[in-house]
Amino acid sequence: MTRQDISSTAGSAVPIVLTGDRPTGALHLGHYVGSLARRVELQDHCRQFLLLADMQALTDNAADTGKVTRNIFEVALDYLAVGIDPDRTTICVQSCLPALADLTMLFLNFVTVARLERNPTVKEEIRLRGFERDVPAGFLCYPAAQAADITAFRATLVPVGDDQLPMIEQTNEIVRRINRLTGREVLVEAAALTARVGRLPGVDGKSKMSKSQGNAITLSAGPDEIRAAVRAMYTDPNHLRVSDPGSVENNVVFTYLDAFDDDKAGVEALKEHYRRGGLGDTVIKKRLEDRLQALLAPIRDRRARLAADPGYVHDCLCRGTEIADEVTHATLAEVWDALGLYRVRGMRDLPRESAPEVTPHAAVMGRG
Ligand code: TRP
Repeated sequence: MTRQDISSTAGSAVPIVLTGDRPTGALHLGHYVGSLARRVELQDHCRQFLLLADMQALTDNAADTGKVTRNIFEVALDYLAVGIDPDRTTICVQSCLPALADLTMLFLNFVTVARLERNPTVKEEIRLRGFERDVPAGFLCYPAAQAADITAFRATLVPVGDDQLPMIEQTNEIVRRINRLTGREVLVEAAALTARVGRLPGVDGKSKMSKSQGNAITLSAGPDEIRAAVRAMYTDPNHLRVSDPGSVENNVVFTYLDAFDDDKAGVEALKEHYRRGGLGDTVIKKRLEDRLQALLAPIRDRRARLAADPGYVHDCLCRGTEIADEVTHATLAEVWDALGLYRVRGMRDLPRESAPEVTPHAAVMGRG
């Protein structure tokens, strides 16, 4: 995405971007094409915050806090390994940002249970998890918490997959209610930036790539693991002999080539040949394997080097979370004031002297 594209999405000011992940497992190729690659680009053009949404992860993992805690480090490693630069992207930990919890409590008064239950993503997730009426209250309410995330950072642009669009819609409803009540624009509405490519299917072709489905290739996968995953990949079950015409649609190898092979003309020629017949699965798999090995080797190496220096990684999280604390606290204080809520002297004060301006990093401004 170019600077031009971004500014046409979000007015002339430098967009403030917020994205987040629930740290419940290591990230995989689906995350890479769906969001990580774009975040690496966005950090050059926007003021970008990246939230490790551990509190949101707890809304359906409260019985396994250890898993969430461990994965904060793993996901942070993934971020740094793919090229998220902690000097240009503020990486922060949700549970260590008390202003988000405070705003969430406030926002829960501006949304009804009926509205939360109508959120199509939440509805579907409740169904998939078999919660029925035993849905944890925190889970049902997580759209309000996500609204707190988005507004606390004053995000104007939220890059998301389609499943997250209802969250942004609900966020903007809350923003409008509060702005109407206070009579001014104390909070800003956010625009969604939807993914360029659809969800990457799992290697089995059955559903989207997901660790829990066992159909994922993680960013730390070793060469043998990558080779085995590509060899076992779902193609066209009716393509029995090399000479048979094959189908490109729903053929996972071609879906991945579309996502990972920059030689578009080469891939089109292969598709043509495959449809005609005479092109074996081993050939297309070899090509895909080479692409994936080349993509993942440097990420895996960088990840291993970073994993050997946990102090550095924790330090990045610490620095980012401190900045995020200032930014989110400033928003909370403004909302508190705009609503005329009571404040004990010295508490919930307006932006502290040291609060950093939410402006792009100096290095970003310097770029053409
Ligand atoms: N709900 C998002 C997901 O499951 C994670 C998330 C939490 C998020 N807070 C956010 C995404 C704020 C964008 C903005 O992937």
